[in-house]
Amino acid sequence: MSWWWKRSVQAQNLPEKNQPNGVAETAGRYESVALVVGVTGIVGSSLAQVLKLPDTPGGPWKVYGVARRPCPAWLAKFHVEYIQCDVSNTEEAKTKLSPLKDVTHIFYVSWIGSEDCETNAVMFKNILYNIIPVAPNLKHISLQTGSKHYFGIFEEGSEAVPHESPYTEDLPRLNIPNFYHDLEDILFEETAKHGLTWCVQRPALIFGFSPCSLMNIVSTLSIYATICKHEKKPLVYPGSKASWNCYVDGADADLAAEHHIWAAVDPKAKNQVFNVKNGDVFKWKNVWKMLADEFEMEMVGYIEGNEQVSMAELMKDKDGVWDEIVKKHKLEDTKLKEIAAFWFADIAFSCVDLVMSVTKSREFGFLGFRDSMKSFKSCIHKMRDFKFIP
Ligand SMILES: NC(=O)c1ccc[n+]([C@@H]2O[C@H](COP(=O)([O-])OP(=O)(O)OC[C@H]3O[C@@H](n4cnc5c(N)ncnc54)[C@H](OP(=O)(O)O)[C@@H]3O)[C@@H](O)[C@H]2O)c1
Repeated sequence: MSWWWKRSVQAQNLPEKNQPNGVAETAGRYESVALVVGVTGIVGSSLAQVLKLPDTPGGPWKVYGVARRPCPAWLAKFHVEYIQCDVSNTEEAKTKLSPLKDVTHIFYVSWIGSEDCETNAVMFKNILYNIIPVAPNLKHISLQTGSKHYFGIFEEGSEAVPHESPYTEDLPRLNIPNFYHDLEDILFEETAKHGLTWCVQRPALIFGFSPCSLMNIVSTLSIYATICKHEKKPLVYPGSKASWNCYVDGADADLAAEHHIWAAVDPKAKNQVFNVKNGDVFKWKNVWKMLADEFEMEMVGYIEGNEQVSMAELMKDKDGVWDEIVKKHKLEDTKLKEIAAFWFADIAFSCVDLVMSVTKSREFGFLGFRDSMKSFKSCIHKMRDFKFIP
């Protein structure tokens, strides 16, 4: 039985109120040394946790984690060697990254929070140009992009004609500027030049627990539900009717982390592009019912005849309400703008038919999976355990 499949089965059967929220420090020599760029983010935090498990393939792993903010207390529990660095700043990146001579694997799970090609490219180059020359044991670079490769960027005015789903990895690039293309080109050039292996991983909509992510749908919807409950309002679905009824793909952040690690350690998976998702599909109506149960609210959902209403607009004056909730429930101090991305929910609730295929990944031997509703629920529980939400 493979480690990846065993992890999936364990995740399925984890007691609901008993989510792991730290890892024991591994003593002794390290077999591999990871540099996780974007370690406070949605997949970065899962990578930090999964890499530090005692039986993770390729390990024991030493983990360096990079992000701009000071190391959050919750992340310190994962025993990551934290490097506070703005990697868009070339000088700062050089000073802080060039001492990392023992790195063997780079996991790049970051973006600047805008689709600007130039800045995203500079960030990635600053990592590769400062690590490759100093790290003689560097073997592999894993880059995370996503399904925007197939349907185009979020920016308004984009003239992309999306591919038709289900998406497979062999579909050509759309003929529009997309920072994913720039990152891939840098990856292909640098790995070819220096004899390194690579992986491009394209996850579906990610379910994770990080309160520092620029796009965390679980925290966004949990906070929407919390604010509605606090204001004694019902849990209405503000999205379109079409999105309420269509199938959606999710990718558990731990599963995405496991997939990154699998592609880094399994020789069969080298130098490939892979889609990543849980393996099933879900509907927003399933999520709404689960949110209503979790937050003990009346389930209203989509109201027949309603047009989509912007969640960003509905929530635009709620910063003070969130501060009140944080105080009332003695939560970790977070700001609404950081922990919830209502603009992202608006996009998710207007999309239909964005399903991807993961046959290629299975064919190459990755058999990990998740039940999407259990994954979503377990992220809510983890956020509660860390006191990010009530
Ligand atoms: N989230 C999703 O649902 C989803 C789905 C599919 C694909 N993707 C793609 O996955 C890729 C990674 O996104 P993500 O959602 O995993 O990231 P994320 O959760 O938003 O995390 C971004 C990480 O990058 C760090 N960061 C940002 N700018 C930085 C800088 N200048 N210097 C150092 N660190 C910096 C952030 O920490 P600090 O803020 O502390 O710097 C954070 O740790 C993107 O291409 C995204 O489009 C995301």
